[in-house]
Amino acid sequence: MWRPRRLDTFSRVRSDKPRRFWIESFGCQMNDYDVERMTETLTSAGYEQTLLRPTADLVIINTCNIREKAERKTASAAGLWKEWRRDKPGAVLAIGGCVPSVDGDGLLKSIPHADFVFNPDAIPRIAEMADEALATRRRFTATAFIDVEDYDFLDARPVPGKVGVTALVTIQKGCDNGCAYCVVPKTRGREVSRPLPEVVAEVARFVQAGAKEVTLIGQNVNSYHGAGGGSDDFATLLAAVGEVAGLERIRYTTSHPKDVTPKVSEAFRDVPKLCEWMHLPVQSGSARVLAAMRREYTPDEYRRKLDYARACTPDLSITSDIIVGYPGETEADFRMTMALVEDVRFDGLYSFQYSPRPGTPAFAMDDDVPDAEKRERLGRLQELQQSIGRERLSRFVGRVEPVLVEGVSSRSPDHVCGRARGNQVINAPLPSGIAAVDLIGRTVSVQVVAARAHTLAGEIQALS
Ligand code: 5AD
Ligand code: SF4
Repeated sequence: MWRPRRLDTFSRVRSDKPRRFWIESFGCQMNDYDVERMTETLTSAGYEQTLLRPTADLVIINTCNIREKAERKTASAAGLWKEWRRDKPGAVLAIGGCVPSVDGDGLLKSIPHADFVFNPDAIPRIAEMADEALATRRRFTATAFIDVEDYDFLDARPVPGKVGVTALVTIQKGCDNGCAYCVVPKTRGREVSRPLPEVVAEVARFVQAGAKEVTLIGQNVNSYHGAGGGSDDFATLLAAVGEVAGLERIRYTTSHPKDVTPKVSEAFRDVPKLCEWMHLPVQSGSARVLAAMRREYTPDEYRRKLDYARACTPDLSITSDIIVGYPGETEADFRMTMALVEDVRFDGLYSFQYSPRPGTPAFAMDDDVPDAEKRERLGRLQELQQSIGRERLSRFVGRVEPVLVEGVSSRSPDHVCGRARGNQVINAPLPSGIAAVDLIGRTVSVQVVAARAHTLAGEIQALS
């Protein structure tokens, strides 16, 4: 079987002409974060990012494997580069992200115009791999996972003037949970926590470069435990990040209910910079289905954790993920999910039809809920959430909210958009005589005047 060669055996190739790269990415914030690290690594190795697709010498497709048809989606994204690859013999097509982790060799075989495939653990070696492929035309896979004790996080190198108002900072990689439906442990390997001082230093670098808000990301941030068996936990990390001077807001995603401790809920009250929003995936309202999913909590335990979090912070916004049509889910189970959603009143919900993923424990189970039934349940759930979501948004109408302005609204160039602390998107017209650039990165007071389907409309109050 092919094994990735050690980093130091990759040949360094020098070329006079800068090689241009293009990255396209699918999936979650982990993948977005990985794109930033690949961009920095390639740039410091002499590659140049191009904004003109056909001029690229190196194309990277960063894939997602979370739900069905991941391989097909990857093949169709790669298919769009077939002619480019054929017409440009010196060019290289690479496929990274979460699809290669599961069957890298199969992927390389099924996409003959791909030059190499790699998993997220190989990202620090992206420039060496690209050099190698460009120089030798050898096709290869780099999909081995790094041992937990040898894993090093790649530091972000934010550049002033180039960072956005909000930045992603990874605090953890991989996942050690055993959710039966989930491919992530296969795609991103074992869980590793990033040392606390490294996280704090990276947040400070982003702030120095101009960011005002950070989102701490990981597959299960609540199980964060720092490095080397110390006493750091997620609540300690939130408090430490909260001390970074110049930082205005902290968010985090994503959490597992079993690891939400009272200390983590209290942080919404006790760490002033921590925004009042928690994404807490529940997945199902049926205890039986949750047990089959190996989630390690019951719907009642989930409710109790939310009750405590809301007791600490009454205006907390809560979003969640739900899977419908899990193997064995009956109409009665599904109604329990509907009842939980009705009760809990989420601010937002991401809901999905169950899709069997090769390599997961649930893959061996009979996917016995017919597609039409899954679709129908999803429709009912989404309809219910739509009205709850609107009702939750409408609580803001009439209030004045502090809004961190992130940019120009995608709908209208004379509106800016930003988010309330609860993560609601707010659009507001520019006050006369003020340019958007003067507001981006500032926290302004916005009078909320209307709730739309998923966003709020407001008016900026007098600027100081
Ligand atoms: N099928 C459907 N949805 C899934 N998710 C994860 N795995 C699957 C799957 N096999 C959903 C979960 C998770 C979100 C990121 O994606 O709800 O929280
Ligand atoms: Fe993110 Fe999971 Fe998709 Fe990988 S498989 S990109 S970790 S959502």
